[in-house]
Amino acid sequence: ADFSILALGGDGIGPEVLAAALDVTEVASGLAGIRLDIAEDLLHGAAWEAHGTFCREETVTAARAADAVLVGAVGGPEWDDIRVPGGPEMQDGLMRLRKALDAYAGLRPARAWPELGRFTPFRAGLAERADIMVLREMTGGVMFASPRGQERRAGRRYGFDTAAYDEGEIARIAHSGFRLARTRKGRLVSADKANVMESYKLWRAVVTEVAAEYPDVTLTHMYADNCAFQMMRTPLSFDVVMGCNLIGDFLSDLAAVVSGSLGLLPSACLCGSPGGRVKGIYEPVHGSAPDIAGQGIANPAGTILSVAMMFEHSLALPAVARRIEAAVERALVSGHLTPDLGGTATTRGFADAVTAELRA
Ligand code: NAI
Ligand code: MG
Repeated sequence: ADFSILALGGDGIGPEVLAAALDVTEVASGLAGIRLDIAEDLLHGAAWEAHGTFCREETVTAARAADAVLVGAVGGPEWDDIRVPGGPEMQDGLMRLRKALDAYAGLRPARAWPELGRFTPFRAGLAERADIMVLREMTGGVMFASPRGQERRAGRRYGFDTAAYDEGEIARIAHSGFRLARTRKGRLVSADKANVMESYKLWRAVVTEVAAEYPDVTLTHMYADNCAFQMMRTPLSFDVVMGCNLIGDFLSDLAAVVSGSLGLLPSACLCGSPGGRVKGIYEPVHGSAPDIAGQGIANPAGTILSVAMMFEHSLALPAVARRIEAAVERALVSGHLTPDLGGTATTRGFADAVTAELRA
């Protein structure tokens, strides 16, 4: 095979949207004339039920050997309160994979779909063409840095985390941001809280240093709170928005509003800067949606668009990525809409519409 892919359905609607996305993957690779070796395994809740761990060592090894990892979704209330030995990454199969692969660059694109008319609250001509890429640092910052914990201080319960970044961690995500901006409109906003926090003062300083290597990209520093306000006020003025793990988490959900449904959003977690072939973990932004699992009505568009990102970044076949995106767009615009978009299409029916568009 030309490339090897590890496919992990996970929980809830995860296996359903993954199956739909694998159909599209197969057709797209056939059209591109490449052979893919696709292996499947369990992750998170499904792995817990079968093996008593959220992510087996074998799965980590297979992910390390693969060119790309494709994930459905993980999680569910039945596994939320289980605590296993080890750090935060051991409590969550997906976090463990991100950490093990050092998949630090989280790409969260969000675009408007004007034809679907669902981009509330932006009906006033503000965001019909919005197309924002949020770049989130995925493996460091306050979600991982030590010390962290809960204890008693002066007889009271006390919980604490540490916001910290090393200059190398900041520099590599900054390079990813500038390279991404180069492939888009050449504008990068870096969001931080350098006004009040030391780790963000360092963030801003290092991003400014890296900027010297990318004179063709326009860099703007913004305080994260103002950035959130400006993204809502003038979404069209944004291209790539970069932030640490926490700020990137908030801003990617905020940007997602322009797309109109959680089910439409793809994501990538790259283990290097964009450009050429870089290993990555690809998954829709949504979760396992236990409320609609097993009904065959989940929207697989976000997972299929994640496959497009995989073709672009891990297989270095951007032309195939564009074909998949165009097929998804035509399927949506011609009315193949799952219930989250107000239609009656099934997961399978939408995937069939996309593969038909791809072949057309
Ligand atoms: P969710 O994204 O699973 O669901 C939120 C709402 O959106 C639900 O009403 C659901 O039916 C709907 N929805 C989500 N994806 C959809 C799709 N593809 N098509 C149609 N409707 C869709 O978020 P929620 O309910 O907060 O979390 C459920 C579980 O998923 C939790 O255990 C959570 O931890 C986990 N989760 C996992 C993520 C991941 O795998 N990366 C991300 C977010 C949550
Ligand atoms: Mg989030």
